[in-house]
Amino acid sequence: MRLTDEEQRMLDGSYGQGVKRAMELLVALGKSFDAEKMILVSRTHVALSGQEGDTYWCELLVNGGATCKVAPTTNPAWDVQGLTKYYEVTDQELELALRTVDVYRRIGAKLTFCCTPELAGNVPSFGEHVAFSESSATPYVNAVLGARSNRESSCSALASAVTGITPLYGYHIEENRAGTMLVDIEAEPKDAYDWGILGFYIGRYAGKHTPVLRFRTLQQRPRPEDLLYLGAEMATSGSVGMYHIVGVTPEAPTTGAAFQGGKAEFTLPVSQKDLEKQEEEISEKGGKINLVMLGCPHYTYDQLRELASLLENRRVHDDVAFWVLTSFDAIELARRSGELEVIEKSGARLVPDTCIDEPCWKSFEGGLGVTDSPKCMYYRERRGQPFVIRRLSECVDAAVNGEA
Ligand code: F3S
Repeated sequence: MRLTDEEQRMLDGSYGQGVKRAMELLVALGKSFDAEKMILVSRTHVALSGQEGDTYWCELLVNGGATCKVAPTTNPAWDVQGLTKYYEVTDQELELALRTVDVYRRIGAKLTFCCTPELAGNVPSFGEHVAFSESSATPYVNAVLGARSNRESSCSALASAVTGITPLYGYHIEENRAGTMLVDIEAEPKDAYDWGILGFYIGRYAGKHTPVLRFRTLQQRPRPEDLLYLGAEMATSGSVGMYHIVGVTPEAPTTGAAFQGGKAEFTLPVSQKDLEKQEEEISEKGGKINLVMLGCPHYTYDQLRELASLLENRRVHDDVAFWVLTSFDAIELARRSGELEVIEKSGARLVPDTCIDEPCWKSFEGGLGVTDSPKCMYYRERRGQPFVIRRLSECVDAAVNGEA
């Protein structure tokens, strides 16, 4: 790799051991992808998970004197103050969570603890080069906003935050953003749930391909939440970091433009029946439930509004915990606008700063959960809690009835 004098000084340790380690990681990453050089990034987002490895890496950099040149927003860990009132965690789990907050504060991160920064708070513009980790954020940044990010890990995104650079490879290069598979879609998704199921289906076949979605008819333009769920699920069942929707996303005004004049390597046809079958395959059958979990990715304020309208004058079943994961600012807006009161009155609860994959949720393992998110199902089932997948209105019915 060609490094500038300044980059070489960072690598040599002239700016301390923390910066040197960050540079070492980026140079190794660049070499493994045959990057010729580094480029500047103007935004970063770090998918810290509140798990030991991420916190250790941040401590290593901070203890070596590093701070952030491009302050990152941060993914959720868990709401220590709120959730310990309800659920048992071990001293080690609590200590790790507190260490995580402390060390990210010391490195100069913006402690947003939210996994949808690309919708509010850290929104890149078209063509901007950024380093975002969080598998649901990267496809949105690339496909919907037309900004440029690779699928960063929390470690590489933090290294970019410290140095202000990233290796030039992958989605930062124009020709690597071209579509490579065509998805010929007969179905017409109506809400974020439908878009999520579609994304999960495509991701299974796409792997690392860049899908170009072409709808036979699409009467309703997708909302940000629809596209968020589409990308999140393609990056769960597959590892899609970029996609196009003909006539919708900015680099795909036509099918030809989406493929940059090239051809699809293969075509995936998708019918309504395929999606119904997909839903049936990934969801548990149903029965008595102990948990409803929404907000993977974090619910937006508009989703909280929709939820409040469904919960009005209803009461969550005594045997069911109903948690909605969202951002602290969406909760504040819901407080001001009145939805928070409606939601809390029903017995459901909003929680900021928290991911579905955290120790406080282990209290529910062994029981059956309900969610509107295949991504939530995917991660929680690995921890021993099966999930029924339903659209939002049905999740609310299940919460009220105590069964799905
Ligand atoms: Fe967000 Fe955690 Fe789901 S980071 S997307 S709530 S797995």
